[in-house]
Amino acid sequence: MTKKHTTERYSTDDEPVLTIRKLGIEIDAGNGPITPVRDVNLTVAAGEIHALVGESGAGKSVTARSTLRLGMPPARILRGGLAVSGVDVGNASADELRELRGGRAGMVFQEPSGSLNPGRRAGIAVVEAIRLHTGLSRRQAWERALELAAALELRDPERSLRSYPHELSGGMQQRVAIAAALGGDPALLVADEPTTALDARVAEGLLELLRRLARERGLAVLLVTHDLAGVAAYADTVSVMYAGCVVEQAPAARLFEAPLHPYTQNLLMAQPVPSRRGEALWYTSGPAPEPHESVGGCPYAARCPIAEESCARIRPVFLEYRERQRCACTLVPKYVSALLGEEWGPALPLPAREHVPLNGVSPNCGSPEGHGSPGGDDA
Ligand SMILES: Nc1ncnc2c1ncn2[C@@H]1O[C@H](COP(=O)(O)OP(=O)(O)O)[C@@H](O)[C@H]1O
Ligand code: SF4
Ligand SMILES: [Mg+2]
Repeated sequence: MTKKHTTERYSTDDEPVLTIRKLGIEIDAGNGPITPVRDVNLTVAAGEIHALVGESGAGKSVTARSTLRLGMPPARILRGGLAVSGVDVGNASADELRELRGGRAGMVFQEPSGSLNPGRRAGIAVVEAIRLHTGLSRRQAWERALELAAALELRDPERSLRSYPHELSGGMQQRVAIAAALGGDPALLVADEPTTALDARVAEGLLELLRRLARERGLAVLLVTHDLAGVAAYADTVSVMYAGCVVEQAPAARLFEAPLHPYTQNLLMAQPVPSRRGEALWYTSGPAPEPHESVGGCPYAARCPIAEESCARIRPVFLEYRERQRCACTLVPKYVSALLGEEWGPALPLPAREHVPLNGVSPNCGSPEGHGSPGGDDA
């Protein structure tokens, strides 16, 4: 397969496929700007499934779409930056953007209609994606589409690709959508709630497929989902988002075993788990800050069961407390020490990555630069 990259890479193969640093996104929502993404830090390496979880409105979809610079404008990068395979997404040229969308990164949405046109045979989207990014002839692209469909376990690949979307089940439509997203052989797949519209068994099959794609093809996957059981079973790393900020990040096993941030703990406690059948579920009361609201201190302060007076004033810093477990909560050292009877403190601050372009970084709700910066500039 011929695959051209129009820009020089400035990442190396050891570097993550996706790097997001201190990202803030503003949207002109008509009656004034809003900030649905205030401070997102994450990386996704080749072969890794990185899940992005959090309640509705936390800014997950806006973050996911920003990796392909979708929805910009009206959205714009307010601060921080992101890079896919070394390409600075925020400052990508028109050629780089064409190559980015489908060539370096593919996207799958909750509804397959986001990728498949209901009036056209499903396979056309796959063939077009392949041709756009490879220069293969129509016949070669069709052969390639059939190979992809078979690899994605589409039943009767030829018949499925010749079907109209409505003739396929939801699960099969999503597999065709993934085939279209992978048509240009991207390094990154961004999947925004790809299983939400599917029943549990079909959803699990799809997550299994994503895991196989990650392992076998070295695909980096950013998976936005509400399905915490699926995350526990299939994700490598989890980032928990709250009010536009990543508040905790950890290897999946560690996050479920020992969450540090009070919001993560609440989120997990609110899940119906068979072992806690009969127990009352936890709910955090009150609303999260709206994207138009300014956040001075910790964005979770108004709902946090262990908040102290200072929490509403002091922005917590996103720090690493255990290997690859990061968290933005000022009180973590204090309450974890109380729980474990050990002295706790941050292991090391997040390393600065100078090669990731930063557009006028200003104080935000989690990154080390925001430390001790009372008063916000988010809205
Ligand atoms: N284009 C837009 N115009 C106005 N508001 C938007 C737009 N896109 C997202 N928002 C708002 O930004 C917030 C975060 O949205 P989103 O990223 O879709 O949340 P999530 O995916 O976590 O549920 C929500 O309050 C949503 O209403
Ligand atoms: S900083 Fe304070 S309000 Fe925020 S999560 Fe920690 S304890 Fe709760
Ligand atoms: Mg969403």
